[in-house]
Amino acid sequence: MKALVLSGGAGTRLRPITHTSAKQLVPVANKPVLFYGLESIAAAGIREVGIIVGDTAAEIRGAVGDGARFGLAVTYLPQPAPLGLAHAVLIAREFLGDDDFVMYLGDNFVVGGITELVDGFRAERPAARILLTKVPDPSAFGVAELDPEGRVARLEEKPACPRSDLALVGVYLFTPAVHEAVRAIRPSARGELEITDALQWLIDQRRTVASTIVSGYWKDTGNVADMLEVNRSVLELLTPGNEGTVDRDTEIIGRVRIGPGAVVRGSRLVGPVIIGADTVVENSYIGPSTSIAENCRITGSEIEYSIVLSGSSLLGVGRVEASLIGRSVEITPAPPIPAAHRLVLGDHSKVQISS
Ligand code: DAU
Repeated sequence: MKALVLSGGAGTRLRPITHTSAKQLVPVANKPVLFYGLESIAAAGIREVGIIVGDTAAEIRGAVGDGARFGLAVTYLPQPAPLGLAHAVLIAREFLGDDDFVMYLGDNFVVGGITELVDGFRAERPAARILLTKVPDPSAFGVAELDPEGRVARLEEKPACPRSDLALVGVYLFTPAVHEAVRAIRPSARGELEITDALQWLIDQRRTVASTIVSGYWKDTGNVADMLEVNRSVLELLTPGNEGTVDRDTEIIGRVRIGPGAVVRGSRLVGPVIIGADTVVENSYIGPSTSIAENCRITGSEIEYSIVLSGSSLLGVGRVEASLIGRSVEITPAPPIPAAHRLVLGDHSKVQISS
């Protein structure tokens, strides 16, 4: 069995964090979301991985390399334009050969991994197996309708009027039957070869498309609240540890992990908190559910329930909460506004002025 990981796309969407970089590299608890997918693939016993790359190929290659540190052998498959998930399968034909494979969308995060799913698929081999999850906004996803026996009856990509709240999660298991399907379909209204249409084609050909409903799921939709929440839930499982330097005037409470080369002085860290490599924290408070990436500087500031990406600094800025701060951001106090009181006070007045 092989894996096909989709990390292409144009890299042009104006989302808070991904307008300058690949969305698959958005960090959750200081680790790119793509790495969790690669780790799940390795844990499921798969070694050969093809990674589809587009405009952001250099960034993805720089982050993943040859895959050896994940225990994987990675082949990069350049996609000339983001022409759809089924198009990615088309161009991976030679790499995939006649093997079964798991297709994993690089911006998806599935809690609990895929080992059980992969093992089950190897044993049963339906034409395809999809993962579904209940979402509040199904029209932003592919949506599945199940028949009374729980089999997939119909699939629709981003329907205006969804027939269920079951969204397609970006992990699909396929036998080579999918290759015929991706050759048979035509581009959708948005000009993409949709994997949803390829799956529908299999259903129409009376091939079995099985489904599994999962609960822990997240994808980068540009929604900051969701991202802070997934960061929080991953930090709950953090293994504490200190590879940096912490002085005697610092108090550490709960699960806190401090990366190599990081320095913490005169501060209070209340976990779960992760501090990246070479970050300096001085005279500050870092509160629960906060991820500070590498090479940051937090001085004389307070921050909690937040994510700070690499190379950013908070210098004397009081309290910051529920915030997502990108790379190389500088936050400093605004210069004080000159204020003056002009008073005409009668004799014997008593006045209290807050300064
Ligand atoms: O995330 C789950 C959803 O993914 C499913 O519910 C939908 O049915 C499915 O079509 C897909 O929807 P999106 O429109 O949100 O996919 P997106 O364009 O975000 O692409 C998903 C990943 O695949 C992302 O990491 C970029 C990569 N990609 C995408 C396209 C269209 C490629 O590598 N090549 C492509 O041509």
